[in-house]
Amino acid sequence: MATTAIIKDFLQQFPSITIALALLVFLLLKKLQKSSPRNPSLPVVPGLPLIGNLLQLKDKKPHQTFTRWAEVYGPIYSIKTGASTVVVLNTTDVAKEAMVTRFPSISTRKLSNALKILTSDKCMVATSDYNEFHKTTKRYILSGFLGANAQKRFRSHRDTMIKNMVRTLHSYTKDKPLQAFNFRNVFENELFGLALKQTLGKDLESPVYVEELGTTLSREEIFEVLVLDPLMGAIDVDWRDFFPYLRWVPNKSLQMKIERMFNRRKAVMKALVGQEKKRIASGEVLNSYVDFLSSEGKTSSEEELNMLIWEPIIETSDTTLVTTEWAMYELAKNKSHQDQLYQEIESVCGSDKVTEENISQLP
Ligand code: HEM
Repeated sequence: MATTAIIKDFLQQFPSITIALALLVFLLLKKLQKSSPRNPSLPVVPGLPLIGNLLQLKDKKPHQTFTRWAEVYGPIYSIKTGASTVVVLNTTDVAKEAMVTRFPSISTRKLSNALKILTSDKCMVATSDYNEFHKTTKRYILSGFLGANAQKRFRSHRDTMIKNMVRTLHSYTKDKPLQAFNFRNVFENELFGLALKQTLGKDLESPVYVEELGTTLSREEIFEVLVLDPLMGAIDVDWRDFFPYLRWVPNKSLQMKIERMFNRRKAVMKALVGQEKKRIASGEVLNSYVDFLSSEGKTSSEEELNMLIWEPIIETSDTTLVTTEWAMYELAKNKSHQDQLYQEIESVCGSDKVTEENISQLP
């Protein structure tokens, strides 16, 4: 939802008495803030009372606004989204310093209401605070999924994915050379397949009966419940995120929408992981993250195990998809970069296909 719509919605729902009350609370908070010890001062982007910089962020590409501000205020500055102060980091170096060198000190970030529900209150490596849970689950994801040995074990899945993508792209350019092509469809389908093979041991070949929903879902519907819906939910804005002192005001429709997404995701994960647990109990072993986690045998509850398996599904299917899409978009806009990339690949691979071994040889 656009920020202006949220504010409009807010103003419509809460007439003058609430706004006067909110203003009072805001002024009190300001007074309290003045008397507390201050952090080192940062450049502040000027905004409006109460809503801060929200109106300046109303377009759908806030990164462009952040970049414009960086030209004026430098690589680190602060803005106000309603009552919350947000520090914006604008260069790779400062982002790396915050996310790697000083990770423990920023890890306790506050999540939006939607993310709090969808992540089962930080029960994912990527959103967890730096604590024992983070240390253990990060170790799991490195040894069972992302680390060099795990990546070696999954190599054949990635090779199959690349072969399928290339085959589809070739046949399309041969059959419809002049027609625009939607890369997303191919990447989305293949990356979801890769995610399922790596996490559960195999792609979905037939619809799955989800007991808790009392229905059978196709692979496409499962993709929607596990990946698309939660991501749409994650960027849903609840105006109470900007005004935490008004969190007591109910926002039932959004709350119910996000809870429905969470419950459907939970039900589908339970069905998928349940199938694999039965397989493992029958003695059939596959090369997968669920097999790895079961052999570790230390995850405390069914819900925690299902969250740990869902996490790489969403990261493989979506994060990698949008990164690839962004790279293709940038390449598509720039003919000279396409030519340069083609020449670089040709100089390393000749007329052979690119393999993972070639990647480190590319300039
Ligand atoms: C090209 C694809 C990817 C990109 C660009 C990417 C980018 C990122 C970024 C920027 C972060 C830091 C986020 C933050 O702290 O707010 C992150 C964290 C993380 N990513 Fe990815 N990611 C990609 C693929 C994946 C995949 C496939 C997985 C599969 C398991 C994954 C798992 C994680 C985990 C577990 C974390 C949290 C690490 C920690 O807390 O120490 N990512 N990723």
